[in-house]
Amino acid sequence: MRTAIAGLGTVGAEVVRQLLDKDELYAQRAERPITVTDVSARDRKRDRGFPMRDIRFWKDPVKMAREAKVDLVVELIGGADGVAKRVVEAAIAAGKHVVTANKALLARHGMQLARAAEERGVTLAFEAAVAGSIPAVEILRQALVANIFSRVGGILNGTCNYILWRMSAMGCTFDQSLAEAQEAGYAEADPSRDISGKDTADKLAILAALAFGVPVDLSSIHVEGIEQITALDIQRARELGMGVKLLGIARLTEQGLERWVHPCLVPADAVLAMVPGATNAVSVTGDLVETQVYLGQGAGAKSTTSAVIADILDLATGRRLPAFGKLAAQLRAVPVLVPRDRTGEYYLRLQVADQPRVLGDVLSLLGMQGVSVASNEQPEQQVDPDGTVAVFLTTHRTQEAAVQRALTMIRALPTVKGEPCLIRIEREV
Ligand code: HSE
Repeated sequence: MRTAIAGLGTVGAEVVRQLLDKDELYAQRAERPITVTDVSARDRKRDRGFPMRDIRFWKDPVKMAREAKVDLVVELIGGADGVAKRVVEAAIAAGKHVVTANKALLARHGMQLARAAEERGVTLAFEAAVAGSIPAVEILRQALVANIFSRVGGILNGTCNYILWRMSAMGCTFDQSLAEAQEAGYAEADPSRDISGKDTADKLAILAALAFGVPVDLSSIHVEGIEQITALDIQRARELGMGVKLLGIARLTEQGLERWVHPCLVPADAVLAMVPGATNAVSVTGDLVETQVYLGQGAGAKSTTSAVIADILDLATGRRLPAFGKLAAQLRAVPVLVPRDRTGEYYLRLQVADQPRVLGDVLSLLGMQGVSVASNEQPEQQVDPDGTVAVFLTTHRTQEAAVQRALTMIRALPTVKGEPCLIRIEREV
């Protein structure tokens, strides 16, 4: 299996090192040798811990994808558009299989690339794109293929989980925790893709297509990040017997398929609440298996390499499936359920003037919209120097649209300062 690697960053270099170091083992497992014949990177001279003498070096990865005499191109450059996309397109057009870890590319161009691969009779494989080392694609497309799925998703971004976990377990600040995640190499080159929920949404778009046979469609995902979460929320959640997690979930309901990424309050004893550090968790509910949760490293050179090489060995042994489990033309859109049309329980944190009647006004606006308040709390010690105080509310199960209408009016109260923080309470995770 003649293999070209485009991109020799931390993952690309690790893939080459593993393929060289374990060449005999992989040759036995694949029943044919896997040979790295060509690589492309910005800088040829950098020491990456493997000898380059028998490997052809290309400055231009697109030219390599087009012209190298290989069976397979592994794209590890990253980025939704630009050179990574051109590499994948060129490889497919030249009749070469593609392995990629590029979730941003697949979430935006997955349909077009899957169609192109089908037309050319080559495989587009991307186990490493979702939840790193957890074989999420394999689970949905093969291991649990006998199931009808009703829900898929979980903790799909290690950086966000790390931040929320550090804030909760060690009382670190958001910024401190983010800096640590960057240092450990979990975060994206642009960490705002992590904390805004965009990276999770990319992965969820892929999981939803695999589980529900829908086209990969980022635009149908409601996305909120963790920017608004403070130590106050984490402390109050704990008092309520809950943890704060950023989840990405696709769930089939009678009203349609809901797909969302947002912070959630989850019961402290739920498996997802207990996932520590940068660990990812993929939760799958199928009619035959009920709910299964898979935990593992979602980022990092070695764990991503594990998934990349699994794809390479699958290709070498001739195990080939359509990218999203079905031919692209068979993927069908279904009605979308947006959060506004959902019912649920909600947590609200408001910063208000510390004076009488403020809470009364807030409660009355919620009541006018038919929202029933389950708890309200104003801890004494939380008075800020500007005379404002944090108040915390939770609701009983209600229409989200009603909560949003009440919030519009609450925001307009002169006694309410800054942006209220709304977190959805998810008990069934
Ligand atoms: N930035 C991602 C994360 C890396 O934190 O999980 C893998 O996609």
